[in-house]
Amino acid sequence: MAEVAVTAPLPGPALDNLRACHEVRVHSGATMLEAEEVAEWAADADALVTLLANPVTSSVMERCPSLRVIANCAAGFDNIDCAEAQRRGIWVTNTPDVLTETTADLTWALILTVTRRVIEADAFLRAGDFKGWELDLMVGAGLQGRTLGIIGFGRIGRAVAKRAPAFGMRVMATPSSQSTEGFENVTFGDVETLVASCDVLSLHCPLNDRTRGLLGEERLRRMRRGAFLINTARGPVLDEAALVRALEDGHLGGVGLDVFAQEPEVHPGLLCRKDAVLLPHIGSATREARSEMAELAARNVLAVLAGEVPPSVVIQGRQ
Ligand code: DGY
Repeated sequence: MAEVAVTAPLPGPALDNLRACHEVRVHSGATMLEAEEVAEWAADADALVTLLANPVTSSVMERCPSLRVIANCAAGFDNIDCAEAQRRGIWVTNTPDVLTETTADLTWALILTVTRRVIEADAFLRAGDFKGWELDLMVGAGLQGRTLGIIGFGRIGRAVAKRAPAFGMRVMATPSSQSTEGFENVTFGDVETLVASCDVLSLHCPLNDRTRGLLGEERLRRMRRGAFLINTARGPVLDEAALVRALEDGHLGGVGLDVFAQEPEVHPGLLCRKDAVLLPHIGSATREARSEMAELAARNVLAVLAGEVPPSVVIQGRQ
């Protein structure tokens, strides 16, 4: 029996599946474990199941010498020092696919909410300001015939693109190395082209050295006046201070953000804006997706501990 350390309770049958074969310790405190605490929690563990709010640094790996697998319960893995894991022969796994549709749905929820001013209108009504139908009350922006730009045409970007025809939107996306069969309606262009041509720009790229700060002051300024920006990817892909400036002077029409540069902190300049819809990183938050994410993370652990190749490999470790 191997020892599996889990940094938070998991939904669905995942923990039972792990317990059927291994010794499992689940951290159940109210707060997310920071790197130091992850290292303590997993000190003797063979496998570690993490959430994306748990940093798994080189020092964590140093202090957990028996670790064979880090199974992140998320599609993203920017909380893990993957280069260090590779150097040490530790497997790193993630949970893609099972959250694709859920995250694409939330992206559209943000697009519709920000363009149609749904939160603002709801607050207006609750404040008792609704005095009857008016021609110019809470007028938003229509989507029909507009162009949706998708930066990062991976699984989630594609699922977002698939929904666009239902709203009458054209789609432009950054080029992808994967097949684009089935996406004949999508035109491709680089980030510069998308930034300058789209009415709604949605971010779906992973966070890495190439994408950190991808949308800074200059690119935000090159977006169309009145355009909308949506981010369900990772906060550090865009410069929040520059974004606040672009909202304040009316260059952008609005933003819908599910992710932030310093979670759980949110830039104060965003908090006070009616044209910013702000969500607490809930892209994959449906009961179904979260349960499947946990199950997949457990399958990844079980496979590595059985000497097999896990279903979703980020870094291949030693067998
Ligand atoms: C992920 O999986 O990377 C999302 O950000 C959270 O579901």
